[in-house]
Amino acid sequence: MIMPTQVQAYRSPKVTIIGAGNVGGTLAHRIAEANLADVVLCDIVQGKPQGIALDLKQACAIAKFDRQIIGTNDYADTKNSDVIVLTAGLPRKEGMSRNDLLKINAAIVKDVVPKAIAHSPNAILIVVTNPLDVMTYLAWQVSELPTHRVIGMAGVLDAARFQTFIAMELGISSADINAIVLGGHGDLMVPLPRFSTVNSVPITELMEISAIDRIVERTRNGGAEIVKLMQNGSAYFAPSAAAFTMVEAILSDRHRIFSAAAYLAGEYNLKDIFMGVPVKIGRQGMEKVIELQLTSTELSALHSSAKSILENINLL
Ligand code: NAI
Ligand code: 2OP
Repeated sequence: MIMPTQVQAYRSPKVTIIGAGNVGGTLAHRIAEANLADVVLCDIVQGKPQGIALDLKQACAIAKFDRQIIGTNDYADTKNSDVIVLTAGLPRKEGMSRNDLLKINAAIVKDVVPKAIAHSPNAILIVVTNPLDVMTYLAWQVSELPTHRVIGMAGVLDAARFQTFIAMELGISSADINAIVLGGHGDLMVPLPRFSTVNSVPITELMEISAIDRIVERTRNGGAEIVKLMQNGSAYFAPSAAAFTMVEAILSDRHRIFSAAAYLAGEYNLKDIFMGVPVKIGRQGMEKVIELQLTSTELSALHSSAKSILENINLL
């Protein structure tokens, strides 16, 4: 006699996004449209996450995707999330540096992260809130999670900006470009031309040094350029695409490699800091920090960026 096999009830992965603003809302849209996970949007403003969730559900009816989307102000609704993405906080206005946001956003991180983790103690936490590297450090501290389960999003975005400017300069598709940007998500970030390639050919073989220098500078100011143009708010399409890449790498356990803010315990001669380095990302979170052989100039630029992050961590 053939015994019926026990079929386990399917449980959809669940992603909570704290902060139903521009980055949070567009990230929810990407996750739902990719049919990747159920999404809970949680915000402090009454009605805002509920309204966005309702709008997204109506988009589902047209685009034919059918994940659950919940908007809420109650952390109980976020329980048992697999991934939590923190996008709550103020964005930059023109003339503000990311560090100007430090005090205001630190208070938000201290408030919301423990509440979210209390309901989802096994989640991987992705931090987007600025100033990114300092808020990732703070989120790790107040979450009390192991270091590999807290990751900051910036490297994928900064690399995308570098890729875009290379593509514009060479008049080619950005799809053929891979770029690496290390360091903090700020003016001292370290784009690495030596490791940035067009179909495996380093851009140092394809472009004049003056053009590379110009593009590196534009990448470092990539966020500020958009803030200035928009006049009210900061970038969100590319940031949410970058956060989506990280969420998907985790939920699909892809062991992908890209830059993200990870905890360093001696790698690159840096300790007790979260900063952008190449990492391997999978279902366990940050699975490995990859140590590139840097030149003394590159390493010194990375250490200057780390110094600035540590100074700001000391202001917390
Ligand atoms: P936004 O202003 O559109 O959205 C922020 C949302 O956070 C708002 O809906 C607000 O109500 C909510 N919020 C504020 N305090 C909260 C609290 N205590 N609890 C729950 N929700 C709260 O801002 P946007 O453009 O979505 O940016 C969000 C953050 O992400 C900013 O800090 C921004 O600087 C940062 N960012 C970081 C990037 C990165 O590469 N790491 C890229 C883009 C933005
Ligand atoms: C960006 O780089 C503001 O950090 C945000 O667009």
